[in-house]
Amino acid sequence: MQDQHGTDTLVLNGRRPVDGQPVMAARDLALGFGSTTVMRDITVDFPRGSITALVGPSGSGKTTFLRSLNRMNDKVRGFWNRGTITLEGQDVHGDIDPLVLRRRVGMVFQRPNPFPMSIQDNIVSGVRAHRMARRSDFRDIAETRLAEVGLWSAVADRLGDSPFRLSGGQQQLLCLARALAVEPEVLLLDEPTSSLDPRSTEAVEELLRRLTPGLTVIIVTHNLAQAKRLSDDMIFFYEGRLVETGKTAQMFDSPERSETARYLLGEADPVSHR
Ligand SMILES: Nc1ncnc2c1ncn2[C@@H]1O[C@H](COP(=O)(O)OP(=O)(O)OP(=O)(O)O)[C@@H](O)[C@H]1O
Ligand SMILES: [Mg+2]
Repeated sequence: MQDQHGTDTLVLNGRRPVDGQPVMAARDLALGFGSTTVMRDITVDFPRGSITALVGPSGSGKTTFLRSLNRMNDKVRGFWNRGTITLEGQDVHGDIDPLVLRRRVGMVFQRPNPFPMSIQDNIVSGVRAHRMARRSDFRDIAETRLAEVGLWSAVADRLGDSPFRLSGGQQQLLCLARALAVEPEVLLLDEPTSSLDPRSTEAVEELLRRLTPGLTVIIVTHNLAQAKRLSDDMIFFYEGRLVETGKTAQMFDSPERSETARYLLGEADPVSHR
């Protein structure tokens, strides 16, 4: 994690990463709900400190896959999974408390979801729950995190107010600040900028680039221009399968699969013209 002064502290929350080992990985993963299999045969590594974009048509399983990485699907009715997902080599379904997993692997959803509490309490809610700081530090933590996402000047004089009077874009920045406050090792983002204006989108992208390589980012986006300018690696999903994965620039320049090529050219259904 990079601290607020930009110092690279490679020891992540007290755990020293193993050289060359991906931060997260999936092996032979299959996911589904009830009798429906939504994803199958997913094997992929997430390199440390990289930004990986998950792209693919609606319904291809991006959200289901993303949410399985920190076990957000666990409580969804009928959800099941086979295969393994690891964080720093450790099975996320093994001997790890899901709450600890979700602190280490944070998430920001497509729609902003501030908690019904003050702006400051939103930011420090995780910090408080995980006893990461003293109460007397909460205001400073809120200021640091809000400044980091570019929201400080807009909310400096209303930290005690409800977040629901903020604009949708500001609420999303608040959720991003809240996710960052617990210093995750991995951040999962599901179309996080779809409710943001271009300037806020640019600010978020700039922030994500600044936070990596200390942080590993996995972002679902329908915005191919965003995937291209932001991500190092890319995964293309189609109908519940991983069709292609590789370096983003290379996938845009010379995709290996025709489905990928068509999708990246902006065709709505990558296989309909076969
Ligand atoms: N709770 C659920 N119960 C049953 N099926 C579900 C559930 N959630 C998702 N699915 C199904 O899983 C498939 C993949 O959905 P998912 O939301 O992961 O797609 P996506 O790639 O994120 O799509 P989009 O780009 O539209 O967000 C869809 O067919 C969807 O209907
Ligand atoms: Mg989705």
